[in-house]
Amino acid sequence: DWTMAAFKDQEIAKIREQVGEGRVLCGLSGGVDSSVVAVLLNEAIGEQLTCVFVDTGFMRMGEAEQVVTLFRDHYNIKLIHVDAADQFFAALGDEFDPETKRKTIGRLFIEIFEAEAKKIGGADFLAQGTLYPDVIESVSFTGGPSVTIKSHHNVGGLPERMNMKLVEPLRELFKDEVRDLGRELGLPDTFVDRHPFPGPGLAIRIPGQPLTREKCDILRKADAIYLEEIRNAGLYDAIWQAFAVLLPVRTVGVMGDARTYDFVCALRAVTSTDGMTADYYHFDHEFLGRVSNRIINEVRGINRVVYDCTSKPPGTIEWE
Ligand code: XMP
Repeated sequence: DWTMAAFKDQEIAKIREQVGEGRVLCGLSGGVDSSVVAVLLNEAIGEQLTCVFVDTGFMRMGEAEQVVTLFRDHYNIKLIHVDAADQFFAALGDEFDPETKRKTIGRLFIEIFEAEAKKIGGADFLAQGTLYPDVIESVSFTGGPSVTIKSHHNVGGLPERMNMKLVEPLRELFKDEVRDLGRELGLPDTFVDRHPFPGPGLAIRIPGQPLTREKCDILRKADAIYLEEIRNAGLYDAIWQAFAVLLPVRTVGVMGDARTYDFVCALRAVTSTDGMTADYYHFDHEFLGRVSNRIINEVRGINRVVYDCTSKPPGTIEWE
């Protein structure tokens, strides 16, 4: 008889057996998955654990603060906060090929983990919140030929030269199961029920153009307004994931009696049970109009908003 409580105990035993006396570094992204891994590891091997939160510069509004507060103050887990925005912007430069971006980001994460491991005198293991769908989608697409759809930055193993071994306790789980496990571990609902957020963050929501801090700031503001309106409308929990995308297109508009020539923002929202397939969310038009007005009035740099009504397949949830 399978229960989440039993799964938790079993995973804790497995982690203890795998890790022994070794030291574990856990990459915290702020998302549900890595948070659950961190709390699970904390229960399993406590003192041997150090978490590393890498602020890539591609986080959402307020996200870095929330993560650091939850883990440092509430859980008392050893946490290193790395401000790596400069490194990420420098490494990505003008690159706008989606796969190259993902691979560059993945490589940089590994380099930063290695450097942090060195600073604490070495680590034997690197823990990640890889889920079952991440494993599948990085390998092949369900029902189709064996092609890579997207290289999830956290899948694919570690470079040979790296001495750390992987700990991936969620590798067999789907998202809803990860949430149950998080609840079982006592993580607050507000945290466990958060929408998924990809490791590469806003970097894959600014498609087809060089990534700049200015563009990240514009997108962050639009995204925050959109999510605030979703929460205010009581729709947050009915939606699997919602976010804004900054398109590489400028269009003409009019503000007061002046001409504008600014960027287009696309809004995305989907329902799903595991992220493998998804339907676009059917907002009512008043809601979309309200969000559009707020974004255009409050975010300088955007003068047009469109809604993405593509389901998965044929679209993916993220744009890159
Ligand atoms: P797609 O865009 O492939 O996304 O339909 C399915 C789910 O996975 C998330 N996603 C990622 N999560 N690292 C992650 O941790 C990644 O590289 C990554 N790419 C996509 C996406 O947000 C959605 O929930």
